[in-house]
Amino acid sequence: MTVNPKIAIVGAGLIGRAWAIVFARAGHPVAMTDIDADALARAHELIGARLADLREFGLIDEAPAQVLARITCERTLAAAVADAALVQENVRETLDAKRAIFAALDPLAPPRCVLASSTSWIPASQYTEALAGRGRAMVAHPTNPPYLIPLVELCPAPWTDPDALARARALYAGARQEPVTLSREIHGFLLNRVQGAVLNECFSLYTQGLASAEDIDKVLKEGLALRWSFMGPFETIDLNAPRGVADYAARYGASNTALARAHVPFEWDDETIRRIEAERRAALPADRLEARAAWRDRRLMALLAHKRDAARL
Ligand SMILES: NC(=O)c1ccc[n+]([C@@H]2O[C@H](COP(=O)([O-])OP(=O)(O)OC[C@H]3O[C@@H](n4cnc5c(N)ncnc54)[C@H](O)[C@@H]3O)[C@@H](O)[C@H]2O)c1
Repeated sequence: MTVNPKIAIVGAGLIGRAWAIVFARAGHPVAMTDIDADALARAHELIGARLADLREFGLIDEAPAQVLARITCERTLAAAVADAALVQENVRETLDAKRAIFAALDPLAPPRCVLASSTSWIPASQYTEALAGRGRAMVAHPTNPPYLIPLVELCPAPWTDPDALARARALYAGARQEPVTLSREIHGFLLNRVQGAVLNECFSLYTQGLASAEDIDKVLKEGLALRWSFMGPFETIDLNAPRGVADYAARYGASNTALARAHVPFEWDDETIRRIEAERRAALPADRLEARAAWRDRRLMALLAHKRDAARL
């Protein structure tokens, strides 16, 4: 029987706790740490509640208590990373915070231990260049929450060792994630660039007065995103013309080029944000945001359970 190696989770906030579920669910011993003792103290209870939901939808095979028992909380960074095969870093999204935590991690983690940041935007080269062990450092950007959305973007720095990248890929894939690997660093990696393109166009259409925020949301949830939950845009257009993607390009390529050239950039100005905020708060008061996030997660669980069953079709 293979023994699952230990995983260290640094930062027990929203994403750190979610990563703990991913690895503990896959059978790994997980050690979490956080500089905030209260955050660490609350982690087990918050994780336990999520595990109960996952069990209800058949998305974990064991009793929640069995999964929870694999997650320990450590008061020091040294204890958390000792003997770990992977450190998943989840501290605040600032360059200073990333620099400080990677400088602390590098001398403490075992030599073959992968050091991976969950950063959404900041390439690893900006905080790993001076590290003695910089060859094992990289970005592994999850999608919130990673125990429901399996995509993880692996983005190496120019000096990341291909062997460390391969070890990381195997660990994420083994924990039921879907890793994708970038060939080089780029601001926003892949997911935030694609999401940004969609967001910028949605805001632009809104500022041009073409439709309400509610109707623009419907274009995705009642239209494009239904297909996108099980196929990507390239796969989609391959079926939107009788002879595939080249046929699609021949029919609609020029129209899409014209769209790109005529794009009206959106500058994220305060006035537009204020109007969208007012429309959203009228639909969803601020005191219901947390309950709505829990509703979203349960909808995602139902969708995942359906996708698992539909995979047999
Ligand atoms: N929230 C998201 O949707 C999302 C999605 C993908 C990636 N990320 C990335 O994940 C990272 C964490 O985001 P989050 O939303 O979990 O933030 P969060 O504020 O919920 O959690 C951050 C935690 O890190 C702890 N921390 C800060 N400095 C520390 C240190 N030196 N050592 C140990 N713990 C420390 C804090 O006490 C806090 O508990 C960020 O880089 C963010 O960009 C977030």
